[in-house]
Amino acid sequence: MNVVAINASPRMESGNTADILMPFLEGIKEAGANVELFLTRKLTIHPCQGDFSCWLNTPGKCFQKDDMEILLPRLAKADLWVFATPLYVDGMAGTLKNLFDRAIPLLQPFFEIRDGHCRHPLREGVRSGKFALVASCGFWELDNFEPLLAHARAICRNLKREFSGALLRPHSRALKMMLKTGESANDILEAARSAGRQLVREGCMSDQTVAAVSRPLMERDAFLENVNAAFRKALDELKTG
Ligand SMILES: Cc1cc2nc3c(=O)[nH]c(=O)nc-3n(C[C@H](O)[C@H](O)[C@H](O)COP(=O)(O)O)c2cc1C
Repeated sequence: MNVVAINASPRMESGNTADILMPFLEGIKEAGANVELFLTRKLTIHPCQGDFSCWLNTPGKCFQKDDMEILLPRLAKADLWVFATPLYVDGMAGTLKNLFDRAIPLLQPFFEIRDGHCRHPLREGVRSGKFALVASCGFWELDNFEPLLAHARAICRNLKREFSGALLRPHSRALKMMLKTGESANDILEAARSAGRQLVREGCMSDQTVAAVSRPLMERDAFLENVNAAFRKALDELKTG
C-alpha cells in the first residue's frame, strides 16, 4: 500500500498535530505500508489562478511550476491519503486548502452524476483510494472539528475518495504538556499507532480506537485556568522584558 501523508502544520514536527500524526504513520508503516511524508511549510504551493488551463490548454497539468508537480503524480497513485492540519478558524490551514484547490488537474472538466450529485470524473490513471484526516485544535470540545470534518467528507465526495475517518486531538496543549512533563499519555499515542495499523490491515479504524485518541485529558474548567495562566505569564514576561 502506498501512502502519501501531508502535514500542514507550520510548526511541523514539533507541532501538536505531529504528536498524533507521527504515531499514526508509525502504525501505518508497522502494518507494511510505504509512507511518503511532506510538510507544506517546506513546499512551495502557489494558490490556484482559476483559469482552468489544467482542464483545457494542458489537460492534467497546471501551468504553475512549483511543488504540486511533485505531489500530484504521487497523490494520483496513492492508495491512502493522510492529511494532517491544525484547526485554523474552524477549518484547515490555508496551505492545505491551496493544495486541494491545486488538485483539480486530477479531475476531468466534464460533469457527471455520481451518487445523485453533480461531480467531475477522475482523470484516467488517477486512483480512487482512501482518505484519512488528522487534526488538532486549541479549544477543549471535540465539536470544534465539525466544520473541518464536514469539509473533509465533501472533499472525498468531490475527489472520489473513501473517507476512512479522522484522528482528532482537542485541547492539544494538554497533550503537549503531558508529553513534556513525562505524564503518561501512552494510551493516546498507542491508540494513534493502533489506528494506523488497523487502517492498513483491516481497511478501517475502530470507533473505540478513534475515540481513545480524542479522550478528554483534563476537566474543561481546569484546562481554561491552565491556559489563561500560561498566557498571563507570557504577557507579563514580555512586559517586564
Ligand atoms: C491562526 C490560528 C487559528 C486557530 N483557530 C482555532 C480554532 O478556530 N479553534 C481551535 O480550537 N483552535 C484554533 N487554533 C489553535 C490550533 O488549532 C492548535 O493550537 C493546534 O493544536 C496547533 O497545531 P500545531 O501545533 O500542529 O500547529 C488556531 C491557531 C492559530 C494559529
